[in-house]
Amino acid sequence: MKIRPEWMLPDLEAARKRTKLPSPRIDSFIIPEEAKWIGRNKKYYISTYGCQANERDSETLAGILDALGFERSMEPDHVDVILINTCAIRQNATDKVLGEIGNFKRFYYENKNLVIGVCGCMSQEEGFVENLLSKYPQVRLIFGTHNIQNLPEMLYSVIHEGKRVVEIYSKEGEVYENLPVHRFGKFKAWVNIMYGCDKFCTYCIVPYTRGKQRSRTMEQILDEVRELKEQGYKEITLLGQNVNAYGKDIDPNINFATLLEECAKIGIPRIRFTTSHPWDFSDDMIDVIAKYDNVMPFVHLPLQSGDSEILRMMGRRYTRESYMELFYKIKERIPNVSVSTDIIVGFPNETDDQFENTIKVMEECKFDNAFTFIFSARPGTPAARMKDSIDMETKSKRLARLNKVWNAYALEKNKAYEGRIVEVLVDGTSKKDDHVYSGYTDTNKLVNFTGENIEPGQFVKVRIKTGKTFSLDGEAI
Ligand code: SAH
Ligand code: SF4
Ligand code: F3S
Repeated sequence: MKIRPEWMLPDLEAARKRTKLPSPRIDSFIIPEEAKWIGRNKKYYISTYGCQANERDSETLAGILDALGFERSMEPDHVDVILINTCAIRQNATDKVLGEIGNFKRFYYENKNLVIGVCGCMSQEEGFVENLLSKYPQVRLIFGTHNIQNLPEMLYSVIHEGKRVVEIYSKEGEVYENLPVHRFGKFKAWVNIMYGCDKFCTYCIVPYTRGKQRSRTMEQILDEVRELKEQGYKEITLLGQNVNAYGKDIDPNINFATLLEECAKIGIPRIRFTTSHPWDFSDDMIDVIAKYDNVMPFVHLPLQSGDSEILRMMGRRYTRESYMELFYKIKERIPNVSVSTDIIVGFPNETDDQFENTIKVMEECKFDNAFTFIFSARPGTPAARMKDSIDMETKSKRLARLNKVWNAYALEKNKAYEGRIVEVLVDGTSKKDDHVYSGYTDTNKLVNFTGENIEPGQFVKVRIKTGKTFSLDGEAI
């Protein structure tokens, strides 16, 4: 058994480095002899925050824990291991996590053998580990996004050697293949196509917490998609912080449009992808989405701001005009497409006029859905170092106004569905009423509908009766 290295603390300076070296690829996963079966008769619980990349990482954590003999529990009480997979994207995300770690303290005082572990993007932030170690004695394991594959050794050290383990590498990262996976969905699956991000938008922590852009090979992705199809999966979502940059780091001859087309040909009924950056969104991509029925007519296209100067300061590499051009191209070429977006209000020194430019784009695009945020300064990022003249009250008012605007258009869009028949992939029944089912349309609209004898994972035709701001109501036909 390898002795756990001395504590390794996050280092944003090291995390910022990008070399032209190819990313190491590691194909094998081996559980050390000593760690085998350390989970026999033991249970684990995983709590996940943040984006789909984290959801998918939690499936890997679960896969490794299963391989060690642990059993998954859906509740945090009476388990032996709790892992909290954290997100650092905004301050309120990190506050929630600290609240949860605080709540779990009582389990630790009931059972001192309980292992509470913290991993994910917050672990990669400077200062976080010291804070956890000093204020949260219940946390006995802290590891980063590049250390997941070492979970067996780390757990062994905590459980059998009584150590408090901290292992965080701040580096560009590798591509790990063949790590075990316990998929949480039975008919919808996440498929990583790339890791990390090289865009370094000035407000964003992700390039520091996740390392450089590393694409998986086409063969490996397509093998995974074929396997998912054989296992009966109905929907896959291809994941990357910026899927349209797929492949550029490994081979100039491959790109996302080719990958998407090859996935479509495998014939899984529904394919989605996220996120596509407006920069380098190619015409070929639009053509593939339009051409294949199983590539869903839905594009999440983060705008962030409708003002070109703010976009420049954000380092987004597009202007309001080029965004609009792309937006209209997508709308014209993909029949019935729906488009959602992300917006940040209150970027440092955003003036009223600059904010109005965002409102104008929202009024023009009439997005189907929007995720709207107040700028949150992430320590270590360039935007966090900017002096900011705008107070929080102004930012909150802008957010409320923006939400009012997009909500009205979302309602208008959803009202247009009334009377239409849509195809829904059923997720399950509503928590409140088991005669009400829910699922999503191809355009990613949430539908709640009544019906009889319907199973999750089925495709059902639903007649829409009412369009609401965030969902559609209907009945199965
Ligand atoms: N890779 C994706 C974004 C992932 S983060 C992309 O570039 O489109 C998801 C969203 O969180 C971002 O689109 C942005 O709107 C928001 N976000 C990221 N950093 C933020 C910050 N520091 N403050 C507020 N919102 C932020
Ligand atoms: Fe963050 Fe920009 Fe990368 Fe998206 S593209 S993850 S916003 S740095
Ligand atoms: Fe959060 Fe990390 Fe994703 S910061 S949004 S979990 S990449």
